[in-house]
Amino acid sequence: MGNPLLRETAQAFSKKEIILEKTTQLVNDLWETMEEYGGIGLAAPQIGISKQLAVIKIEEENERYPEAPISKEYVIFNPKIQVLDETQQEFWEGCLSVPGLRGLVSRPRRIQVNYLDEAAKSRSLVVEDFLATVFQHELDHLKGKLFIDRMRDISTLAYEDELMLSEEEKDL
Ligand code: NI
Repeated sequence: MGNPLLRETAQAFSKKEIILEKTTQLVNDLWETMEEYGGIGLAAPQIGISKQLAVIKIEEENERYPEAPISKEYVIFNPKIQVLDETQQEFWEGCLSVPGLRGLVSRPRRIQVNYLDEAAKSRSLVVEDFLATVFQHELDHLKGKLFIDRMRDISTLAYEDELMLSEEEKDL
């Protein structure tokens, strides 16, 4: 947080660009960095690349988010989100770009995501509950938004150390 690149709108990929070797390398870098820090999602701007790409994967008993339900592995280029259910849900969010802090964030509970996959093929996905929050958090990074911008009550911003993590508290 504080790096201007995190506040930029990331650039879209062309289909040709997605299948280039250097893009595959970038995807691998994202997976490696995410795993190194025990994250469940990471967007390209977080590693200094202002491009519309994010990866998401929630593994069983993830070290930072042991309570989070597992997910498939997603590589997402040029995403567009459509809200399917405006009903708000709240989770404690954290971010590898805002280390050590968490805050309570409300977001719509069910969304549709249209994007291109690693083969530059169009995909459409409906996600809900915690995974919908993960997608919205990661895809916000591509619009220059951080979870703190989405907080309704800044008084919930807290150091991880100070939070007694209950079952509901998650970290992205
Ligand atoms: Ni984040």
